[in-house]
Amino acid sequence: MLNVDRSLTLEEIDLSSLDFWLLPLSVREGALETLRKTNPVAHFDDPAWMLLSEDEGGFWVVTRHADAMAVSRDPKVFSSAKGAVSIPDLPQEFIEFFGSMISTDDPRHGRLRRVVSRAFTPKRLAHIEDRIETLAHDLVGEASNNKEVDFVSKVAAELPLRIICEMMGVPNEKAHFVLERSNTILGALDPEYVSPETDIDEAILKAAIDLVSLMEEIGEDRIGSPLDDVTSALVNASVDGEVLSASELASFFILLVVAGNETTRNAISWGMVALNENPGQRQLLRSNLNELLPFAVEEIVRWSSPVIFMRRTTTKPTTTLGVRLSEGEKVLLLYGSANRDEDIFEDPYAFRVNRVDNRHLGFGGYGPHFCLGAHLARRELGALFTEVMNQIPNYEVVGEPDRLRSNFINGIKHLHIRTEA
Ligand code: HEM
Repeated sequence: MLNVDRSLTLEEIDLSSLDFWLLPLSVREGALETLRKTNPVAHFDDPAWMLLSEDEGGFWVVTRHADAMAVSRDPKVFSSAKGAVSIPDLPQEFIEFFGSMISTDDPRHGRLRRVVSRAFTPKRLAHIEDRIETLAHDLVGEASNNKEVDFVSKVAAELPLRIICEMMGVPNEKAHFVLERSNTILGALDPEYVSPETDIDEAILKAAIDLVSLMEEIGEDRIGSPLDDVTSALVNASVDGEVLSASELASFFILLVVAGNETTRNAISWGMVALNENPGQRQLLRSNLNELLPFAVEEIVRWSSPVIFMRRTTTKPTTTLGVRLSEGEKVLLLYGSANRDEDIFEDPYAFRVNRVDNRHLGFGGYGPHFCLGAHLARRELGALFTEVMNQIPNYEVVGEPDRLRSNFINGIKHLHIRTEA
């Protein structure tokens, strides 16, 4: 059970500041609780560190579960087309490049989602399931050969990376090339990934261009002679006779590799921390693994909430959230806060591997953009924690998790564990 620290006053809570997201978890959770209870749709100024060329009017933050669901399910009023993954407005070319369908509305979103859904068929996922289990077994086995390892780099990052690369047809020797680019795109504000002397926009753009060149290399071979991978399905896909444009293909590739890498890794890492801090829950899971695993996986996603926010922009004036919003206002959905909402979750700060009623929003608020990779992520988490329970059940976390500096991904860069306690 987390000891929540509610000492920050409403005036002291500043979600515009990057440092807010690096506060001790107890303080951060306490501040979000204060917002949920006293100012659940709060307004914040534009982040000063973002060096915006003009005043963009700040942004609203939605912290309650019910409000996050209501916004997610009303895309006509709360649009994704102005960018879902960034607080500042980005130039349209940037949105297209990085956002793909995540930053579109219907009818374009529906059309794009149908194409990718075809590439993520149950058949293709069934085929990859054995592979996920084997890889999880081998990675945890290799880690267990060392007394102490950085679990993130050796296991938590490797499993989703290798799986998404295999699904996309990326050769094994290019996997780390992909990981480095994906870290740059979502971890650019952290000096470990992009040095403070480097221009951040340039670094992100360069990483994206590298990924696109890789996709073009792979895609060229697949046109007309498809293999059983997602890239083949994408380059040969057509919806109503219309094929994907080169830029749609490029942005899909970026979205899938980045989304596939940067989220599951952090759910795994926070899951390791949670089981370490809750030995009774670890024991319970171990003794009823088959029965409790699906519940434990959902609880790990709720607990970790790897995606901090998605953004929407109002298309017209609305009072849906109980405050008056004009057209063009930015609204951030804080999934981690919704996942601690005391109106929905009993003992929200308790990590329980047998939580049955778990309507968490870790994969989104059940609107049209609900995570396309949720099934894949669940499989990866299930396979990984099965192996942890079987091969290193007594592991111990050494020191504190080294957290990512980001207001978008709730990440852990390094997590040292002793494999035999
Ligand atoms: C624990 C792991 C994961 C978490 C917590 C997560 C979370 C999310 C969230 C919060 C959204 C936005 C939902 C919304 O706006 O309503 C999303 C969208 C998306 N996710 Fe995931 N995700 C995970 C794993 C994956 C994986 C493995 C993939 C596969 C490659 C993936 C692919 C996507 C895609 C393509 C979208 C955009 C869907 C759309 O716009 O229609 N995700 N994810």
